[in-house]
Amino acid sequence: MEPTAPHLPGELDRLFYRPADEFFVSHSGLSLTYDDVSLATLYSEILPRDANFETALAPGLSLHLPVVSADMDTVTESRMAIALALNGGLGLIHYNMPPRQQLSELTRVKNHVHGLIREPIKVAPDQLIGDILELIDEKKFSFSTFPVVDASGVLLGLLPGHCVRPRFAPRAVIEAMVPRASVLTIREDELGDNPIARADRFFTEHIGIHKLLVVDSEDRLRGLFTLSDIERITQERLLQTKPARDGKFRLLCGAAVGAPREASGEIDRKTLLGHVEAMVERGLDAVAVSTAHGHTRGVGDSVRLIRDAFPSLPIIAGNVTSAAGVEFLAGCGANTVKVGQGPGSICTTRVVAGVGIPQLTALYVCSKAAAHCGVTILADGGIAKSGDIVKALTLAHAVVCGSLLAGCPEAPGQIMEINGKFYKQYRGMGSHAAMKAGSAARYGHAKDTARKSAAEGVEALKEVSAPADAVLAQLAGGLQSGMGYLGSPTLESLRKNARFTRITAAGLKESAPHDIIEVKTGNE
Ligand code: XMP
Repeated sequence: MEPTAPHLPGELDRLFYRPADEFFVSHSGLSLTYDDVSLATLYSEILPRDANFETALAPGLSLHLPVVSADMDTVTESRMAIALALNGGLGLIHYNMPPRQQLSELTRVKNHVHGLIREPIKVAPDQLIGDILELIDEKKFSFSTFPVVDASGVLLGLLPGHCVRPRFAPRAVIEAMVPRASVLTIREDELGDNPIARADRFFTEHIGIHKLLVVDSEDRLRGLFTLSDIERITQERLLQTKPARDGKFRLLCGAAVGAPREASGEIDRKTLLGHVEAMVERGLDAVAVSTAHGHTRGVGDSVRLIRDAFPSLPIIAGNVTSAAGVEFLAGCGANTVKVGQGPGSICTTRVVAGVGIPQLTALYVCSKAAAHCGVTILADGGIAKSGDIVKALTLAHAVVCGSLLAGCPEAPGQIMEINGKFYKQYRGMGSHAAMKAGSAARYGHAKDTARKSAAEGVEALKEVSAPADAVLAQLAGGLQSGMGYLGSPTLESLRKNARFTRITAAGLKESAPHDIIEVKTGNE
């Protein structure tokens, strides 16, 4: 009998555009990735700007933007983690550095109070105003009011901007400064849980004052708020971007660890737990046990040890691509499982080891196991454009981005110029160079023999991009559009509503600009 097409519109849509279970099960045996599928639009009552990105990764770990920066040594140190958290996401500080350095990177993020300048530029009482004018000129400061401190940092007064003029150049700072007794300050321990709100109240109560100095119990200068920063922040709060903060108003920060071993092959319990404990003391919000193969005894033992020692610390673990891998890590105590083996832009695992699963199928399989085990999943690797994020979030709770962020000024590493273009280094953690610098264990090799081992990543360059704020705003904009097209005001409804269709190479060609001469890319 000839197949007949159904006539009812709803039946037609159901036949051609399938929900995840039907779609992926009907393609079992064929693994698909982002560019293999497209999402069907659905009736919508929401405007893209009303899309809500809240995502709960673990008890006590929720983000306002479902983006995590990769724990890679060319992506996430404190600057990137600060940028992610300020935009509502999470940075995972890599572990290709000595533990003490990782602690100080974490501390920088946790101490970064947006609005509180921790290291204000100070001047000494015996400096000449002429010296200060030179300093402003040399450093191109856009301000001219400075706290005055003695050699041990004790506050002596405030040099007001209206005195910093060439006509007073030969005069000493001490002659021009407002003396300590007349400078309004606040004690660090009076800032409370919401320093921005406290500073905001201060500026409202003290008309005409534009700087609030923060001191400690011995009157040493500890920081400074400016009225313009506070006003900018309070304005920002009315916008959609909300920083991801902990209960003490500090930015959220995660850090990755490996599965360190003793000579006997057992997990080095003392080293692992000692380091995690030191990070927890500094306010760590999530630890990621991050290796190329997470469905292993070593990763399982590490997760179990951390879970036993820190019952309420959110644990991310990975990477896996199988349901059994998710079940294993969840059983060991992980809250969130990183999914992805070989999809990364710098990865060669599939080429070298012949192993790995195209990302969308891996996400589907792992999402089913995660729902069964009561954990969440992160889509790690292969995200090249905002549309991939929308597709990933039909199955995962957040995405991990490496390459999309590696060109930002906030990524570690120097900018280099090649033939008039500017680049930053981006390398796989399984590349020879990264393994030599410490990440060999992540790929199951010893550091000293890493040179001889098969690399599973390449060393590459990324063209320098806009700052992370702008890159993340573009990605968030794409996600909002996707959620608008799918009539999904929340990420939960996006996961529930998504309908998939398989596309061909011709469909993919049609999906991007074609048959034109492009003069401006979409993001310019
Ligand atoms: P993207 O595509 O965002 O991927 O650049 C980042 C993710 O790739 C993983 N990663 C690697 N995978 N060999 C691999 O097979 C490597 O050398 C390597 N380095 C990073 C990692 O999961 C990261 O988050």
